[in-house]
Amino acid sequence: MMKEKTNIRDLFSSAAEKNTYLKMCAPMVRYSKLEFRSLVRTYGTDLAFTSMIMADSFCKSEKARLNEFTTNEDDTPLIAQFAANNTIDFLSASEMVYPYVDGVDLNCGCPQRWAMAEGYGSALLKTPELIADMLGTVRRNMPSSFSVSVKVRLLSSTDHKRTIDMCRQLEATGITFLTVHGRTAPEMTKVPVHREALQEIKQSIGIPMVANGDIFTLDDAEQMYAQTRCDGVMTARGILSNPALFAGHKSTPVECVKRWLNICKQADTDITYQCMHHHFSFMTESLFTKRLRYELNNLSKEKHKVYEFIQTHLPLDDVVDDESGKLYPEKISCTYSEGNYCQRTAENDTTKEESYADIGSLYDPEASEGNFFQSKRVELDETTPVSKKDAVSVVDGVDFMDGGSLLFDE
Ligand SMILES: Cc1cc2nc3c(=O)[nH]c(=O)nc-3n(C[C@H](O)[C@H](O)[C@H](O)COP(=O)(O)O)c2cc1C
Repeated sequence: MMKEKTNIRDLFSSAAEKNTYLKMCAPMVRYSKLEFRSLVRTYGTDLAFTSMIMADSFCKSEKARLNEFTTNEDDTPLIAQFAANNTIDFLSASEMVYPYVDGVDLNCGCPQRWAMAEGYGSALLKTPELIADMLGTVRRNMPSSFSVSVKVRLLSSTDHKRTIDMCRQLEATGITFLTVHGRTAPEMTKVPVHREALQEIKQSIGIPMVANGDIFTLDDAEQMYAQTRCDGVMTARGILSNPALFAGHKSTPVECVKRWLNICKQADTDITYQCMHHHFSFMTESLFTKRLRYELNNLSKEKHKVYEFIQTHLPLDDVVDDESGKLYPEKISCTYSEGNYCQRTAENDTTKEESYADIGSLYDPEASEGNFFQSKRVELDETTPVSKKDAVSVVDGVDFMDGGSLLFDE
């Protein structure tokens, strides 16, 4: 079954005609899953991304596909984001997901050490010709109405020409749009986003540019648009802590928590304990005292305990909201055609086939809490010395290369 398609180029054009920009929910490992996308779509999000999906696992393993990608009829417009370090994986994964999404995006921003070591994410920024080859190949092989895009970071915080040259090179591959996170890979989140760089990039390219970084309110998004004239504004941390951000709410309304509860109850076993719980934790930051936040973060791992906690501490019954009772369509049961991938890998490397079966068994989405959640936990833990709270490097005992690493949940 093929989902009805939205033309992303037209979406950008109609926003531009109305002198406005697209409001976009960022790709977020662990978090920008179907259920969360359903929630933020009820609050003005125009375009959503999946979490970053490892293209090679997606191609090789049915189990990985089931874990990493789910969708339903209402889950549109939607871009699937892949991490890939070669053209075969990116092209094959794109072909496989094609029936269920409106576009594919290549991740060139992930700053984590493991990703860099394997040539994924921001490691690709060192070889723009490889990025261009991957994008160009997918562009040539997919229908022109299907969106192909890339998400990059700045190459330098001062020499914007370098980033502009790269963006022009990527534009020449025929991509539909590009997203720029306005920081370099080693820059920590406390370094303010280089908006002037985003503005210069926008002026230097013809395709739509999405601006990303430090958007925590609708006002921030409006200012980003006013300053850079970007075509879309994308938020990650802001929309995690306030999924109603694009509807103009300054902080999470209780009604939004009620909607999340409704979605989680309907999703039932389709949503993991961790995903359900972490979102409650992030979105209630502004609603709970420090003590309650600490309690919520440390509940025993039973879904009903979380639901009870939320219902006890928030006046959900007082909220009148039609959406909180909304019925969401069932997940689409996706089927994938592996033929092209098998043929391509057989032609290039026969040893790859041996690992098809193994890859799936490596998947355990709840194996760790993830760095982003752990960083929040450390913040609240009164037994952790202040100096250690500042040093994110102690989280999980992992020695981070930089603050940017926190953004990509290990
Ligand atoms: C928990 C978390 C997970 C993320 N996962 C991804 C991802 O899968 N792909 C990606 O391109 N960026 C990912 N990012 C980076 C964001 O998309 C975004 O570029 C970055 O957080 C800056 O935006 P912000 O200031 O709105 O948070 C992630 C960020 C966070 C906080």
